[in-house]
Amino acid sequence: SALAAGSPEHVDVVSTAHRGAMGHAPENTLAAFALGVEMGSDLVESDVQRSKDGVLVLMHDTTLSRTTDVEQVFPDRAPWRVSDFTYEEIQQLDAGSWFSEEYAGEPVPTMAQMIELIRPTRAGILMELKSPALYPGIERQVAEEFASYPGYVTSAVRAERLVVQSFDWASMERYHEVQPSVPVGLLGRPAEALLPELSTWADQINPGYTTFDAAYVGTVHELGMEVHTYTVNRAGDMNQVLDRGVDGVITNFPDVLEDVLAER
Ligand code: G3P
Ligand code: CA
Repeated sequence: SALAAGSPEHVDVVSTAHRGAMGHAPENTLAAFALGVEMGSDLVESDVQRSKDGVLVLMHDTTLSRTTDVEQVFPDRAPWRVSDFTYEEIQQLDAGSWFSEEYAGEPVPTMAQMIELIRPTRAGILMELKSPALYPGIERQVAEEFASYPGYVTSAVRAERLVVQSFDWASMERYHEVQPSVPVGLLGRPAEALLPELSTWADQINPGYTTFDAAYVGTVHELGMEVHTYTVNRAGDMNQVLDRGVDGVITNFPDVLEDVLAER
């Protein structure tokens, strides 16, 4: 709380578990999301794309190769694009073994499964639309998925537990039009000159942690937006971005961030 704070900048810093606690468990699996919650993160980040038959699935790369055994299971299906596989096929994949044997058999989750996992907890969701230009209409589809859980959007937004972000800013402007109650974040570092216009509909500017300074954070704040920076994994770097006044830190190691925040 503000009263317990030794200095103002760490008050209510939002901790986000990147692709789940991906430093400790295979990225974008339910196991990694659960670990992020367990480690005290306020939000769990994930990347949403769409299967060939229209199911919203959570995967970082636009191909399935790096984080699943797709090349063994479907050897003749190069280049193994997410959008070329049905959900029934994606369900057959192992998204855990590449990380460690402990997670063998972890499936590729759907967006619905993530909502159902996170919704009963104290944590929330930072959903990234990954390469949305590949998936026409995905903004409306994601909005409808959130809205299909009665009361979820209203209560999660009120608790600051639901944000949608993308590197594709035009996609985020569309998302804002489709579901204006849900805050949207712009990944990357828009030039200062663009910020006033972006601030008419965007809520967060979410830059890489080496790309901005305290003055930039000040400008974003003056325009009524927040800064959540990625992907900050070392304690020293966490302290540096907190000194620059960020509102949130996106990390593979929520446990490290917890310790850093406790020390400030
Ligand atoms: O949440 C920020 C971060 O996820 C953006 O980069 O490549 O990990 O999706 P990436
Ligand atoms: Ca992401």
